Amino acid sequence: MASPRFKRGLFVVLDGPDRSGKSTLAGLLCERLRRRGVSCLRTREPGGVPLAEALRRVLLDKSRAIAPFAELLLYEAARTQHAQDLILPALSKYRVVLCDRFSPATYAYQGAARGISRRLIDLIDGVATKGLQPDLTAVIDLPESEFQKRGSRSREDRLEREGERFRRLVRAGFRGYVRRRRGAFLIDGRKNSGEIVGEILKRLDPLLKRRT
Ligand SMILES: Nc1ncnc2c1ncn2[C@@H]1O[C@H](COP(=O)(O)OP(=O)(O)O)[C@@H](O)[C@H]1O
Ligand SMILES: [Mg+2]
Repeated sequence: MASPRFKRGLFVVLDGPDRSGKSTLAGLLCERLRRRGVSCLRTREPGGVPLAEALRRVLLDKSRAIAPFAELLLYEAARTQHAQDLILPALSKYRVVLCDRFSPATYAYQGAARGISRRLIDLIDGVATKGLQPDLTAVIDLPESEFQKRGSRSREDRLEREGERFRRLVRAGFRGYVRRRRGAFLIDGRKNSGEIVGEILKRLDPLLKRRT
């Protein structure tokens, strides 16, 4: 069997608050990479594999009350299955595996907003991800005013229905995450999508060159 040209692909995470443009950017970024001949697998959290997609439906269901620690464990259950069955194997087949949300969201939502300690999240997330660390994490920042302008109330899921105070804590949680983590950077989500993709590619290109 021919040995692959690269041992391990790059694991790239896009995260940030609701409506910050993650899904839009993930689509554009993968498309740009593929056009340049760089294989890219796009996936999302919670989800990516059948068990995690089933847990996603539970987590986003408006009619369900979920205790903070139960919420943390459900997200981490989805993540560990996703990492084991999809992300880790994909890293030997693709140059880039692009994930829409990952650990930063756990620190922002379950940590900063729901009040679970960072130490506990470090512990549980570390076990769930089996030490899998993103090579690059782009966190999109979005002010409340821009959140209000985008999207409609009728399509809100369980977390989007939380109020403005919750969103303020989430935003602060993401910003704190970026300050603490090497390899994570903050992007102003009010810029146009093309410009944001350009900024991400500027950071990604040196990593791609290094690992051929
Ligand atoms: N850079 C941007 N500037 C203005 N509007 C945007 C931008 N990116 C996304 N949008 C719009 O904002 C809304 C939320 O985008 P989406 O990609 O679904 O965000 P997320 O996946 O982070 O929730 C959509 O209506 C989308 O068209
Ligand atoms: Mg999305």
